[in-house]
Amino acid sequence: MRIDILTLFPEMFTSVLGSSILKRAADPALSADGQSPSVSYHLTDIRNYTTNKHQKVDRPSFGGGPGMVIQCQPVWDAVQAVTAMDPRPASRILMTPQGETLTQPLVEELATHPRLLIIAGHYEGIDERVIQRLAPMREISIGDYVLTGGELPAMVLIDAVARLRPGVLGHEESAHHDSFSPGAQRLLDHPHYTRPRVWEGMEVPEILLSGDHAKIEKWRREQSLERTRQRRPDLLK
Ligand code: ADE
Repeated sequence: MRIDILTLFPEMFTSVLGSSILKRAADPALSADGQSPSVSYHLTDIRNYTTNKHQKVDRPSFGGGPGMVIQCQPVWDAVQAVTAMDPRPASRILMTPQGETLTQPLVEELATHPRLLIIAGHYEGIDERVIQRLAPMREISIGDYVLTGGELPAMVLIDAVARLRPGVLGHEESAHHDSFSPGAQRLLDHPHYTRPRVWEGMEVPEILLSGDHAKIEKWRREQSLERTRQRRPDLLK
């Protein structure tokens, strides 16, 4: 999977995409055929595409109001140039608080695409006309709160997608059983324990030491359901 990121702040991505599992996801050594890694990241600075001689990309909002709006021209030209860099069709995504909320089923769907082209807006947003002209474009929010820009939301989306790509987690089963995932019936995850058996006088639930896998599975399902009932009853509807 190729992931293109169009942003005014590419430097925000380098440490996140260059660390830990997201770094490994793009490592050629990971792939089964030794050729194509599970994901590749391609950062593009929208400012490189402005035709403005002072390198400006934003202007005050028509109609007044605070903040600046990113102009159509640099966004449109950047998308055209980046799209032409690879023959795979790019699914366009705009990170915006006005979008549909990111959920695990949506992440699972996006993880099957050959190529994602993610636009991270900043300031008050992007001129609506270029958003319309770039249709079909999926507008996605990471939750009902407002950040200073779409960069952190883009990283959240990339992290959630990359960990579902083949070979990235190493242990494929673990993603399948996470909270909100199909193996957990889309409920919250059950609690986890490790050594020592007793810590500060607190014991690990006896059943987990029984070696009876059917009973352990049943206990975990019940814990999962109970936690969901208490913390997120909305998930049970
Ligand atoms: N940009 C600013 N806030 C955002 C959010 N919650 N989701 C996606 N993009 C954003």
